[in-house]
Amino acid sequence: MVTDRRTTRYLRELAKEMPLFSRSDEFPVLGAESAGLLRVIVTLLRPKRILEIGTNIGYSGTVMLQAAPDAMLFTIEMDEDTANMARENFTSVGVGDRVQILRGRAEDILPYIKDEYDLIFLDGPKGQYLYLSTLLLPMLKRGGVLVCDNVLFRGMVSGKRKTTARKRTLVKKLDEFLRFISNSPELETSIIPIGDGMSVSYKI
Ligand SMILES: C[S@@+](CC[C@H](N)C(=O)[O-])C[C@H]1O[C@@H](n2cnc3c(N)ncnc32)[C@H](O)[C@@H]1O
Repeated sequence: MVTDRRTTRYLRELAKEMPLFSRSDEFPVLGAESAGLLRVIVTLLRPKRILEIGTNIGYSGTVMLQAAPDAMLFTIEMDEDTANMARENFTSVGVGDRVQILRGRAEDILPYIKDEYDLIFLDGPKGQYLYLSTLLLPMLKRGGVLVCDNVLFRGMVSGKRKTTARKRTLVKKLDEFLRFISNSPELETSIIPIGDGMSVSYKI
């Protein structure tokens, strides 16, 4: 989280929660307040085709599909067990027929994808956002939106919190990624200090 505890608690209190998904540290899904922002973006954009990197148990995927009743979600997850849990969750909330889970590492799968998407939600390996975005941007339609979570990584990227030695490389890579999407002539980007930091980029 990048805002202070009190603000975060207040924003979470106001946010809609999905009761089906019980939160636990084991499953690092989107915070409720960030999910609310994602829901608004999806509602405004009305995407038909969504690509997600990092399915986990299907929480953010469900948020997006419930906000876009005509959309198909293609979601990439490298962990087999969580992908199976996501499949069960998508089915139990009634969106299973609108999801295709692609099992494997995003960096291995993305080079084979030739389709275009209206919305791309990047919530996978944080250290690879810059590299993955070079693969993802050609797949994003003009007028489409790229949303990325955890971009301020616990406040370490902006310097609000001291970067631990173990996270130095990751934080440097996220900083490079944010500079790239902020300066790209094909993107209009805003970086929002909500949850763990979320970037929203519109493809011009
Ligand atoms: C933060 S969680 C995603 C949370 C999910 N978007 C949600 O809010 O419900 C990140 C997920 O990305 C997956 N992941 C990490 N590295 C990956 C990679 N290289 N390729 C595909 N999935 C990856 C992890 O297994 C984990 O389930």
